[in-house]
Amino acid sequence: VLRKFLDPRLISTEENTQAAQATGPLSAPPCTLHITWKELLLTASLLIFWNPPTTAQVTIEAQPTKVSEGKDILLLVHNLPQNVAGYIWYKGQIMDLQYYITAYAIDTEMLIFGPAYSGRETVYSNASLLIQSVNQNDAGSYTVEIIKRGEVTEGVTGHFTLYLETPKPYISSSNLNPRKGTETVILSCDPDTQDVSYQWWINGQSLPISRKLQLSENNRTLVLSGVRKNTAGPYECEMKNPVSSSRSDPVTLNLLSELPKPYLTSNNFNPIENKNVIALTCEPKTQGYTYLWRVNGQSLPVSPRLKQPGKTRIFFLPNVTRNDTGPYECETWDRVGSICSDPVTLNVLYGPKVPRIFSPLTNYRSGKTLQLSCFADSNPPAEYSWTIDGNFLQSGQKLSIPQVTTEHSGLYGCSARNSATGRERSTFKRIKVFPPPGVGPACVEKEP
Ligand SMILES: *[C@@H]1O[C@H](CO)[C@@H](O)[C@H](O)[C@H]1NC(C)=O
Ligand SMILES: *[C@@H]1O[C@H](CO)[C@@H](O)[C@H](O)[C@H]1NC(C)=O
Ligand SMILES: *[C@@H]1O[C@H](CO)[C@@H](O)[C@H](O)[C@H]1NC(C)=O
Ligand SMILES: *[C@@H]1O[C@H](CO)[C@@H](O)[C@H](O)[C@H]1NC(C)=O
Repeated sequence: VLRKFLDPRLISTEENTQAAQATGPLSAPPCTLHITWKELLLTASLLIFWNPPTTAQVTIEAQPTKVSEGKDILLLVHNLPQNVAGYIWYKGQIMDLQYYITAYAIDTEMLIFGPAYSGRETVYSNASLLIQSVNQNDAGSYTVEIIKRGEVTEGVTGHFTLYLETPKPYISSSNLNPRKGTETVILSCDPDTQDVSYQWWINGQSLPISRKLQLSENNRTLVLSGVRKNTAGPYECEMKNPVSSSRSDPVTLNLLSELPKPYLTSNNFNPIENKNVIALTCEPKTQGYTYLWRVNGQSLPVSPRLKQPGKTRIFFLPNVTRNDTGPYECETWDRVGSICSDPVTLNVLYGPKVPRIFSPLTNYRSGKTLQLSCFADSNPPAEYSWTIDGNFLQSGQKLSIPQVTTEHSGLYGCSARNSATGRERSTFKRIKVFPPPGVGPACVEKEP
């Protein structure tokens, strides 16, 4: 195969022909020297029938012993046997043509390249392999096969596993500001790197065993449920492989405290209609919250009258009317959720309007009971008083005088007073009392 290629005297014309016939199309690796496609196809097919060699004490050493991404590394081969014809390097532990990187023939100083050749590998005459500008994909195992002169079935192999220096990891969090005690946070140790083990620290100590701290299968991610002060960190993660380890910077979660229940305050819970300007304030004042107002269960704005509805902490109601009574609620929001205040109702003071006097009759006959009542819309309810012909009669919404005489005729006044608004309104009704039948002039209105 490749071996024969490295020691060309071994290849007979007969084999050459058979091999070429037995082989289908194969994507050919690039090559530097005068190797024909036919020769390559030949080497590919012959490899399949070739027995694996017994291993010998060839050792491989990396120089430098640690390499980070982007740097070069030389895999030095020690204890080379005598009488060597050439070398073949493979990626991986098995000598499969698919994984062959490059081969070197000593006599001809010829190099050929295989499918695993990346353009960055160089094999030297002493079998050492230089890999330039290594990357993550270069990590893993390598096998060198040393072909002795004149021997078809015997080779010597050496194995090496290349680890790259671990990069400095960093912690990514699904949420750096979790709500205290309620939210789940997923921390991951990045970048995701091959062939490393991960380890976590909290407060400089290894993770305690807890239901609230769950590691993924490879320990790269850590699920924290219901983060509290003692589980907020700082967290650090470490990546480790046989040649190096590295630790992240610490990350501490910033716990959002639970939203306090808001409450409403006002400059005046008992405003006078069409007079007072009301400012409702949502307490407490806190950074980073937004506010949502609701009146009568509907979110603001409900009226074009409101100059700055919606999102502010203080809400103005100019020229309040009884229709602004409420109830009002405010809701505070942060990134995670919201909480609503208890409803608050404004006690809008108004009135009284001009009162109305209700009376079953306007004319009474002597001996009957005079009954009047008075009403004026007012908040708080009006205090009423009665007068007759301008003279105070009594307080109260109702006036009842049994067994009236003609003396009770006159102009009855009802006065409604609202001590909260300081307003008073009056109205009047003339009542006539007629003498009993047969007494005096007989011109009496019929009673219904
Ligand atoms: C092999 O060759 C390389 C490149 O010339 C050199 O750096 C290295 O020291 C040599 N020695 C061994 C033991 O591989
Ligand atoms: C994950 O970590 C635990 C202890 O922290 C360890 O026992 C286990 O071997 C680790 N698993 C892997 C796959 O590294
Ligand atoms: C308040 O309303 C009353 C009655 O509607 C009106 O006369 C007054 O001009 C209003 N005042 C303001 C400041 O809007
Ligand atoms: C209050 O609302 C009612 C019904 O919408 C309306 O008829 C009335 O005029 C309003 N009163 C005031 C003082 O705005």
